[in-house]
This record gives sequence, C-alpha cells and structure tokens, in this order.
Amino acid sequence: MVKNFKPCITEIVGSYWGDEGKGRVASFEARNARLVLRTTGGNNAGHTVYYQGNKIPLHLVPGGIIYEGVMAIICNGVVIDPKVLFEEIQLLSQYVPITPENLIVSDCAHLIMPYHIVLDSIQEDKRGFRKIGTTHRGIGPCYEDQARRIGIRMQDLLRNEESLREKLALNLSFHEELLWANGISYTIEDLYQFCMKAKETLQAFIRNPEDIILNALEAGDKIVIEGAQADHLDVLWGDTPNTTSSQCNPSGTLSGSGIGPVYVDKVIATMKAYCSRVGNGPFPTELVGKEGDIIRNLGHEYGTTTGRPRRCGWLDLVAFPKTRGYTDICLNHLDTIGLIGQQLGYIKVATHYDYQGMNTTIFPTDMEITGCIPTPHYEVFEGGWEIPTNCHTFAELPERAKKFITFIEEFTKVPVSYIGIGPNNEDTIIR
Ligand code: IMO
Ligand code: MG
Repeated sequence: MVKNFKPCITEIVGSYWGDEGKGRVASFEARNARLVLRTTGGNNAGHTVYYQGNKIPLHLVPGGIIYEGVMAIICNGVVIDPKVLFEEIQLLSQYVPITPENLIVSDCAHLIMPYHIVLDSIQEDKRGFRKIGTTHRGIGPCYEDQARRIGIRMQDLLRNEESLREKLALNLSFHEELLWANGISYTIEDLYQFCMKAKETLQAFIRNPEDIILNALEAGDKIVIEGAQADHLDVLWGDTPNTTSSQCNPSGTLSGSGIGPVYVDKVIATMKAYCSRVGNGPFPTELVGKEGDIIRNLGHEYGTTTGRPRRCGWLDLVAFPKTRGYTDICLNHLDTIGLIGQQLGYIKVATHYDYQGMNTTIFPTDMEITGCIPTPHYEVFEGGWEIPTNCHTFAELPERAKKFITFIEEFTKVPVSYIGIGPNNEDTIIR
C-alpha cells in the first residue's frame, strides 16, 4: 500500500521583524484544527489571545488551546523557561481547563536555566556597540547549549537524582568561568532545586508527542503551526548578527515540529501595512521623526514581551522574503495605515533600493560589512482612509484601501487572504 500524504498543515509565520499579528490569523485557523503546535523560540515571543472578551497575553503556549477539542503541543524546537510556562498554564486555567488532554510539552524541548538568562545579559554587554538588543530571556544561551549537546531537556527532569545532578554539573562547567568573572555563581543544589520545581509543576505535561502527531497526519486532521519571531530574525536567513537564535523561517518553523514538508498545505505570511522592529539591526524604511511617532502611537507599537517602544517605518516590499513559498498573506493594521495616511496626507511603500550605487530589489546581506543602509524608493499613495463600521468584505473597503492591497498582491504575487481592519480578532476580512 502506498502512503497517503494529505497536506493538512497550515503554518503561520512572521515575514519581517516580528510582531506582525500572527495571533490574529492563528485564532481563525486554529478553530477547526486538531493540533496547534509551537515549534521554535521561547518566551521572547509574545502574542495575545482573546477569549470571551478577555485579553490573554501568551509567550509559549499556542493560542489555539482555547478552542474545545484542540490539543496544543510545545515541540522539540522550543526553549522553555519552566516558570513562565507554569504561569501561563495557571493564567489559561482561569478560562479553560489545561490538562494533559489538551497540552503536551515535548520531552525533548530544552529548558532555559537561570544562568542562561544571566549569560544573555553578560553576552550583550560583551558585544559593546554591537549589541543585538535581545529580550534578555536567555534564549540565545539556551540554544547554544542545544548546539553543544549539553542542554537540559524536559526528559532530564525525570532522571534519577544522581544522574540529573551529574548532567547539571556538566552543563554548568561550560559556563562557570564567565559567570565567576562576573561575580555570579550557582551551586548544583540551586540548579537541582530549580529542576525539581519545574518537575513538580510540569511533569504531567511532559511526553514524547510523536504518536499524537502521527495519528493526526494519518487521519489528515488539520494541524496549525503557530510560528514565532519572523523571517528577518532567523538565525541563518535573517539580518545576522541582529537576529534571534532559532530558525523561524517557514522551513525552520516546520523543522521544530519534526514533520516533513509533504504535509504542508498553506504557509501564511503575516505582515503589517507598515513595518516595525524591536532591537537593533538594519531597517531601511525606518522613520525616526514625527512620521515614526505617528505610526507608533496609532499602531500602539510597544513590545508585548519587553514593553520597549518599537521602531516604526513604511512597509518595505524589498524586505518581503521572496523565496519562501508563501501561499497567503495576512495583512494587519489596514485601519491604522489608513489613519496614518489621513494624518500625513500620504502613505509610502518601498519597492526598490539604492544600495552601493546599485538599484536593487533584493534585500542586501552584507550591510554589517559595508556599514551602509540602503535608500528606499517608494510608491506613494495619496491620502488615507477610515474603515467604515460594519465593513465585512473586501468589496466594502474604501477604494484607496483596495488599491493599496492590490498593489501588495501584484508586487509579492501572493494573495492577501486575511485583512486586519481593527484591534479585535473579529475585525478581520477573510477572502
Ligand atoms: P514575536 O513572536 C519581535 C528580537 C529581539 C532582538 C532579537 C534577538 O512576538 O513576533 P532574542 O531575545 O530572541 O535573542 O533577541 O530578536 N525578537 C523579537 N522581536 N518579536 C518577537 O517575537 C521577537 N523575538 C525576538 O528584539 O532584536
Ligand atoms: Mg514580539
């Protein structure tokens, strides 16, 4: 008998520098899913879930868990701060029961240890003027230990005491010199107690999820992968060195789940009608004066994870990743860009750059070496718009807004299937 590969996976990923509103499209896609997976990153990510009028800020658990009959899995590729995960489970439990029937934490996911968080700050300081502007959540140091193959995984919590203490000692030995040099030390007892607390709070959820994933694939049940971070923050394909430390492009996001590409049905790129970035790194369309302030204020662009004001600028179609095979776009903040246009009298979209004397439509990869940021060339849209109340369809949108969306579709050659027209998830046009 030949195996039947039914493409049943919908991946939702960020296509710029994060915070594009992945949670919005996830809230629609997850409704009829069997599984919702988180596969990369850690609590550097932030997404807000709305449940019966309540706003639930999440960093680790896929938001789709709030739907009945949907099981959430935190897969191998995720790095987990056990305290943050437990707090999230407690928060979610106020709204829906969280049990091993609807939440699984992969036994192979790595733990962010207390010293990873300290090392994140020490490493940032060491970089001097080359700081990344990380979220200081210990994400990078934890992935470093994963690559060194000495990291503490969820299954290690279930080892016997002697063997766990031995593993902790090995892990700590790789970091001690740097920690001591900064006046910080940990005892194995401290770390053992940290692990016992993690075990006490999370043990019920820890298990190998392979059989559950396999059953869903064989049944052709819908699986939604809620991506974290975004393409330009990908450790391999992003704006090195100003990236996160996991692969959060669509392939890397899939890899964190262990599922093969033949099962992918849709890859939805989320983007905003303008751009934002937190942390350092190139941002060619960034607006630093009054225009940037207007976008930040109208778009409420302050980080959900760190509260930092986000850098804001015009939508940059040069920076849109073109080789990823996105099947759909979710365009958020169409209402906000309309108001920005009304205030400024224009809206701009970058379509090509001047870079090193060349006219290019490709996002440069050597800006760290050249020290140059490209000068964007813009398509200018006059005026702005206001989304009418009771607007539910593309046809009901103001003509200028339709023109703006059609321009994006023609440029990217990807259909804009979800359009965010207001702050609430329900303020979404689905085409
Ligand atoms: P969501 O899922 C925006 C950025 C940080 C920093 C860089 C490295 O909410 O879109 P890290 O702590 O990961 O080592 O920091 O990556 N960053 C994000 N920016 N949204 C995110 O996630 C981010 N996750 C990481 O600001 O520049
Ligand atoms: Mg974020």
